[in-house]
Amino acid sequence: MCGIVGYLGKKEKKEILLDGLQELEYRGYDSAGIAIIEGDKLYNFKAIGKLKNLREKTKAYESEGFGISIGHTRWATHGKPTELNAHPHLGAYSYVVHNGIIENYQEIKEELQADGVNFLSQTDTETIVHLFEKNNKYENSAFAAFEKTIQRLRGAYATLLITESAPDTIFFAKNGSPMLIGFNGDDIYFASSDTPIIGKATEVYYLEDGEYGYAKEGEVKLFDGQGKKNFTKQALTTDKISAQKDGYRFFMEKEIYEQNHVMSETMMGRVLDNSIEFNELDANFFDGISAIKICACGTSYHSALTSAYLFERIAKVRCDVEIASEFRYKEPLLTDDTLFITISQSGETADTLEALKMAKRAGLKSLSICNVDNSSIVRESDAAILTRAGIEKGVASTKAFATQTMVLWMLALYVGQKQKTISDEILKREIDAMLQTPKVLIVTEKLHAKLYRLSKRYLHGHGFFFIGRDIFFPLALEGALKLKEISYLHAEGYPAGEMKHGPIALADSELFTIALMPKSMHYDKIKSNVEELSARDATILAISPKPFELADDFIQTAYDSHPMLEFFEMMVVTQLFALEISIRLGNDVDMPRNLAKSVTVE
Ligand code: AGP
Repeated sequence: MCGIVGYLGKKEKKEILLDGLQELEYRGYDSAGIAIIEGDKLYNFKAIGKLKNLREKTKAYESEGFGISIGHTRWATHGKPTELNAHPHLGAYSYVVHNGIIENYQEIKEELQADGVNFLSQTDTETIVHLFEKNNKYENSAFAAFEKTIQRLRGAYATLLITESAPDTIFFAKNGSPMLIGFNGDDIYFASSDTPIIGKATEVYYLEDGEYGYAKEGEVKLFDGQGKKNFTKQALTTDKISAQKDGYRFFMEKEIYEQNHVMSETMMGRVLDNSIEFNELDANFFDGISAIKICACGTSYHSALTSAYLFERIAKVRCDVEIASEFRYKEPLLTDDTLFITISQSGETADTLEALKMAKRAGLKSLSICNVDNSSIVRESDAAILTRAGIEKGVASTKAFATQTMVLWMLALYVGQKQKTISDEILKREIDAMLQTPKVLIVTEKLHAKLYRLSKRYLHGHGFFFIGRDIFFPLALEGALKLKEISYLHAEGYPAGEMKHGPIALADSELFTIALMPKSMHYDKIKSNVEELSARDATILAISPKPFELADDFIQTAYDSHPMLEFFEMMVVTQLFALEISIRLGNDVDMPRNLAKSVTVE
């Protein structure tokens, strides 16, 4: 999704902007650009594709002295990924960058065109800069013109505007899309998340929806619908090490390998000898709750689906899961004995955030399970449990899924404990299994080598079916999503018992079936389902602790004492499987085509 950076001060601006944009690459983008105003000089560079193209274009330029500057990575929403559509967008003497969608842009554009304004791009963003310049003709200051512009916009946006009519000022506004302001002495920074400013700014302020204002050297003035506003800065973290690749080929690979460590972090202080504790939750948080509704998207949705089995089986609480984008428009019936849980790695997914806002409007208590502190979803929720996975840069989510699923497993036990639906004996057995999870997630050289060798046989075919039952069905969905996201091969996840109701018609030797066959859960049932496929000549890759003689390929897993341990071990296998196939196909695993890390538009 689009990323924004901004800098105001005396330092070299080009490098600050380009480095900042580099840090936002993980959000996904298809073009990038920067604009700088130094006194009466105005510079603008844009390029489609990767940032190295923009670097190449700016090679001969270096900024000097005090100036204001903005930069942007664009993930196309309105209009193709072309240089004309790339941000910053130019009016006659001003530049704007924007993340989000201006819903009423068409109406504003038509008005401006009727006034004779010529639009160069197909974007909604360009309306902001032209509207500002129109307002600037009549208002008595550039800020008044900016304020009037913002008041006219509907939809989600985070935006920065610079103009020759106020060459010492950056104007900013945020509503529904993330943006923060960094501070270091007189220097002011802006960014969509804190990674671009770590090591540069020392303090930060995370803008709230509806806030806007302006920054000049050493000062920031903040406003909202009520007028001028005071704000409190907080110290900015300095830890950037986790954002490096550490010698792995891809961030995704590194993130798969570090799952065992982050899982310990996720459990720390929460999984105790005989109980599960969440300091984040008031002791009476679950009082009056008799049902759970979970909304999420993509991978986070798959962890939610997994947890529905756990909440009902362990905690004996009814649990429904819905895809957030569907939930938004179905006019759901919500009752206030329902806890509304959102799950999100980024905490900025527009559909999930909107679902949460709907639930809050209906008076439901809300809890978010999220990887990013201070994100919009965390701030919007009554309570939040952080997954502690660390920065996840690979667009294809791995460690976030693992830690989300762990938090949900813990939460199911926690609810069972609170509502006394679980015996001490079962609790103890679950905790014992939980504590073994980090060990299960270790990627051995042998396993990785085996998947590397085997992957060469899975680069073609007419499709993949990942099949499983119970909690292994959402894992099958997740395995298929991972493969299709980064390999661009068609893959589906299916409940194993459902294949015979249609999809089995596809079975032949070119249909690759990845069968999740845990020993501790419904082994005989799934075995029969796989036998049915094998009888129709489907190619079978079986993942199981038990040798399966009809398998064309076989990965033997090691842990079979608890379904969740089998779940996590098989999860790693499916992640490595997708990774190795995609690397062989020559794909950019960390930034797959057409995808964004954080989907902040509907
Ligand atoms: C995961 O591999 C995907 N890239 C995607 O499905 C993602 O899980 C989804 O967009 C939800 O994101 P969130 O967890 O940040 O809300």
